[in-house]
Amino acid sequence: MFTARTFTINGQQYDVAIEDGETLLDVLRDRLHLTGTKKGCDSGDCGACTVLIDGEPLNSCLLLASTVEDRSITTIEGLARNGELTPLQKSFVAEGGLQCGYCTPGMVLSATALLERNPDPSTDEIKDALAGNLCRCTGYTGILRAVERCKNYLEGGQCAKPRGVEPSGVGASIPRIDAADKVTGRALYTADISLPYMVHGKILGSPIAHGLVKRIDVSKAKALPGVLAVLTGADVTDTKHGVSPARYDEDVLAKDKVRHIGDPVAAVAAVDEKTAERALKLIEVEYERLPVLTDAMEAIKEGAPLIHEKYKSNICTTVDFNFGDVETAFKESHYVREETFVGNNVFQSPLEPHASISTWSHDGNLTLYTSTQVPPYVQYMMAHLLHIPLGKIRVIRPAVGGGFGTNGGGVCAHARHMRQLWRSTTALAAVARGRRPLPMVIWLPGSRWTRLLSVIILVNQNFDRSSHLDSSGQVEETDSHGRSSPGTQVGKAYRNHRRDRDRDPRGVGLDVVAS
Ligand code: FES
Ligand code: FES
Repeated sequence: MFTARTFTINGQQYDVAIEDGETLLDVLRDRLHLTGTKKGCDSGDCGACTVLIDGEPLNSCLLLASTVEDRSITTIEGLARNGELTPLQKSFVAEGGLQCGYCTPGMVLSATALLERNPDPSTDEIKDALAGNLCRCTGYTGILRAVERCKNYLEGGQCAKPRGVEPSGVGASIPRIDAADKVTGRALYTADISLPYMVHGKILGSPIAHGLVKRIDVSKAKALPGVLAVLTGADVTDTKHGVSPARYDEDVLAKDKVRHIGDPVAAVAAVDEKTAERALKLIEVEYERLPVLTDAMEAIKEGAPLIHEKYKSNICTTVDFNFGDVETAFKESHYVREETFVGNNVFQSPLEPHASISTWSHDGNLTLYTSTQVPPYVQYMMAHLLHIPLGKIRVIRPAVGGGFGTNGGGVCAHARHMRQLWRSTTALAAVARGRRPLPMVIWLPGSRWTRLLSVIILVNQNFDRSSHLDSSGQVEETDSHGRSSPGTQVGKAYRNHRRDRDRDPRGVGLDVVAS
């Protein structure tokens, strides 16, 4: 049910009709298009959605909009006045307190609140005040410096001009070209963009890691008012895709089997995000669980269950690099040492959630806005899946809220994000093109944690490593056998041989069996 409410935001009054249960974040971003307030985790963990409520920093994703009707709300858009940055914003710009900028509005607002009540905080007090704001890029040092030196950017302060504005030769520190946009919330990330008549897409991901899809019933989802289309594996292309042409083994939507948590099984297009979410909950999927492989060496054993039936022993690719004669080198060594190293599962999750916007023109051209580091990858894979020429696809990269490779595509586990993005974009763009040529924003399935689960290829690496010393005590050669990555593909051992450069000018050698 909708209710009319009045909010005081940045000194202005807004009359807004809101739905029961809407958060302040929803109202700011979706109803008022104040997109400087960022949606990161949507669960109170990251601080990207920080706003000031009567001067106090709070997470707007946790606040019911109806509870702040009588309060004074300040968003990042309310700080700079008449084009003039606040001293703290100038300090963030000049001191390098930002990189991707996705955390920056929340960080600036939390620091603003601190400086209001304590103009000369200690480093520990700054750390305390910013403890609820996560940054994945900066390592925090630039942010701490910006808050500590804020007084230098006050009018009449010791340094009214931001450092480095005037060129002073090689080595001079200069502000990022996009810094002002990022400290004011003007920088637009993919999910901040809203095209006229845009509809919303959502993907249903598998809750299990490995299993057969026995039955999907989308009838209730299709019947929900506001739902425009629901797709399953039966509705989409049989063309397989993947990051490497050597491993095109993924479906746009699962055909008969899911191979990891989050593997997309259905896609919904709806008039708004909440309707799309409701529709996802109405899709009934019956799975038959299959054994899960979590250890690469177990996975390549004879008789292990196959993840992809076409890959014998779960080995999808074998790549060999051979340089030099390691065995001879070992024989000539004064000392050989063997160790087994076990690494951790690591995944670098940027603060910005993945989203993609697609829009078709009437002459059949597709424009995609997507948070990618590598637009050509996206363009290529979309052309491959949609069976249209590259020239009919344009990929626009707005501001990207953290990359770290995971937004790049093409790099092992990280690419799974991009592949899901392609999948979701492909499926729903096809709906939009075929039945209703409207722009569409698509979100990846599930919570941030689900997404993490869906992208980690369980890189639980073991390395059996041998090294040997020459007579002078230098490590001369190493030989390592690694085991990694059961997931949709399973890795096998690899050998890494480091050559004595004096004897082999090719230097480092790598002998890899599967990746
Ligand atoms: S704390 Fe609100 S989006 Fe992360
Ligand atoms: S600059 Fe903080 S998350 Fe990127």
